[in-house]
Amino acid sequence: MPKTAPTPWTRRHLLGIEALSAQEIKALLDAADRFFPFCTGRRRAPRLLEDRTVLNLFCEDSTRTRTSFTLAAERLGARVLQFHAATSSLNKRESLADTVRNIDAMGVDAIVLRHPERGAPERVAQAVGCSVLNAGDDAHEHPTQALLDLLALRRRLGRLEGLTLALVGDVRHSRVARSNLFAHTKLGNRVIFVGPPVFTQDLDVAVETATDLDAVLPQCDAVMMLRVQFERHESLAFDTDAYVRGYQLTPARLARAKPGALVLHPGPVNRGIEMTDEVADGPQSVILFQATCGVAVRMAALALCIAALDRERAPARAKAGKGKRR
Ligand code: NCD
Repeated sequence: MPKTAPTPWTRRHLLGIEALSAQEIKALLDAADRFFPFCTGRRRAPRLLEDRTVLNLFCEDSTRTRTSFTLAAERLGARVLQFHAATSSLNKRESLADTVRNIDAMGVDAIVLRHPERGAPERVAQAVGCSVLNAGDDAHEHPTQALLDLLALRRRLGRLEGLTLALVGDVRHSRVARSNLFAHTKLGNRVIFVGPPVFTQDLDVAVETATDLDAVLPQCDAVMMLRVQFERHESLAFDTDAYVRGYQLTPARLARAKPGALVLHPGPVNRGIEMTDEVADGPQSVILFQATCGVAVRMAALALCIAALDRERAPARAKAGKGKRR
């Protein structure tokens, strides 16, 4: 059962992949595997988070990540509050630190944060006593997305070793690409960022890059297509037609990859830009399976972080002569 499984996980926060060891990544994936049978809700999950409260604080748009964290927490028995940034006192210029300190003072067990500023989850973690899980900060990290990508790969390929992956497209603006790069590097896999120079030149991370997708594909066990993040381009010179000619994943292009190579995309997909419908909906696509895996990964992340929080709180409670929990 998830409750008793041995784990080296001791962190109350999940802020990024870069700080994790390969062993911690595997511990999260193993826990996600144990939650997988319960993740669609068709089988009742153990109520590990009964009487707990999780707050989703999203300061950027989200479909999959917010829904997935909500379902994961609810399936473990937690209550979930949705914080609506657009109608909150953030609009009255209250600082993020003051906002989260006040929420923490009301008693929540975890804050799931998506924020447009790099490092916002670390700053919130320093300000509060509860767990903080990063649901995406600027183009920096999106740890649960990388973990769900790893889980989908491991379950579909049967292994996570000796892999070559192409991460294709707008890697410059992609927190998904960075978190995946950190994870696969720790696991010993080869990651190649592929895209036009406007996306692949002068990056803030050390990574193998390529501009010729057709030349890279024959080496690939999996191809992760990334959304062109038009909203983050500002003055970037970007030619959509040239991009489609050079980088759109079509059935003919995919045929160049290793037989059975998997196609991933974190969503939302710009259909007709990153890939054609035949590829997005084809037999090698695991896009919807990624969404399923996301719930299992977030069940694991919430359960492990809140268990670590309890262990941190336990000595303080014992000292104060209080019972279990707060
Ligand atoms: C991604 C994100 O928000 O970082 N989506 C997601 O969480 N599934 C990728 C994107 O927006 O392109």
